[in-house]
Amino acid sequence: MLLDRSPELAHEQVTIRRGPRSGLPLVIAIHSRALGPAVGGCRLRRYPDWPAGLTDALRLSEAMTYKCAAAGLSFGGGKSVIVLDERVELTAALRAAALADIGEFVATFDGGYLTGPDVGTGPDDMAVLRRHTPHVFCLPEEQGGTGSSSGPTAIGVLAALRAGARQVFGTESVAGRTVVVVGFGSVGGRIAAGLAAGGAHVLVSDVDRVKREIAIGQGLAWLEPDQAMTAPADILVPAAIGGVLDAHIVPALRAPLVVGPANNQLTDDAVADALAGRGITWIPDFVASAGGVVYTLGREIEALTHDTAVKRVEDIGNTVRDLLVRAETNRSTPLGEALDLARRRLDAA
Ligand code: PHE
Repeated sequence: MLLDRSPELAHEQVTIRRGPRSGLPLVIAIHSRALGPAVGGCRLRRYPDWPAGLTDALRLSEAMTYKCAAAGLSFGGGKSVIVLDERVELTAALRAAALADIGEFVATFDGGYLTGPDVGTGPDDMAVLRRHTPHVFCLPEEQGGTGSSSGPTAIGVLAALRAGARQVFGTESVAGRTVVVVGFGSVGGRIAAGLAAGGAHVLVSDVDRVKREIAIGQGLAWLEPDQAMTAPADILVPAAIGGVLDAHIVPALRAPLVVGPANNQLTDDAVADALAGRGITWIPDFVASAGGVVYTLGREIEALTHDTAVKRVEDIGNTVRDLLVRAETNRSTPLGEALDLARRRLDAA
């Protein structure tokens, strides 16, 4: 989704270089700075080849433009990707070298691109980047940052989920609902815990088998990854990587509400129509997942207190409610309405 497939380059600037220390391919993609400096996390992941990492950076940076615009932030969309080969072993030394490389790379943008953690990186890694550039968010709290943005991201997803539940089930309460959380990482884990605390019957899944014991230890039920997406449930929460909703899976889905933090959940925008056609309410990922960036920028740029920043994150629930009402009134989809909202703000800039 969100990859502009027109022959023209949709992005403002895309730079690829080989890390001088690590030898790894590094990509920094700036999709748009119409609203302000580009912001977007640094992803460290395995890809079949570097063009796959480039494609991911292009799609993720575009999603950040829409994420910031829909959230009302004066920031643009960017993303950095450290491409790890599927065969190479990620030793501590290689990791440190790659982080230093990307920090130096971010520095070359002189504040036009600001980074933070993403899949495969966390606050400690940001501290490594900080040695090379001041333009990095989410440093550990001992080092003056606000730490991991996973908690606020989960709070935003839960607010979006409650707004969705109100529309689909007539109540925000998750008590007694069956919820499948696909991806038991730092955000998925927090969402699962929040839902369980609210009285939901939570089933979780992850490609990493190690997570199974942890989940069971927390009293959560486990689903095998190949069954999770299509398990019968009230709510499905995609909380791992993107591309999980395509034309093939939509007919097999068995949850009337789909909302989660994974970026770029749809393989293309037409999937949103297929979901709506099946009567499934899908909350656009770039709206539901904005909590991390909303909280972090609020705290680290605007110096908001924790409580005020959390209130802003919870406002995602109101945005979702408005989008769902508008989609119903206009006989459109929540995605169509969310893109409209973002584009109105981008056009006004
Ligand atoms: N990884 C976050 C996202 O996908 C981006 C982020 C950047 C979060 C900077 C916090 C700070 O939205």
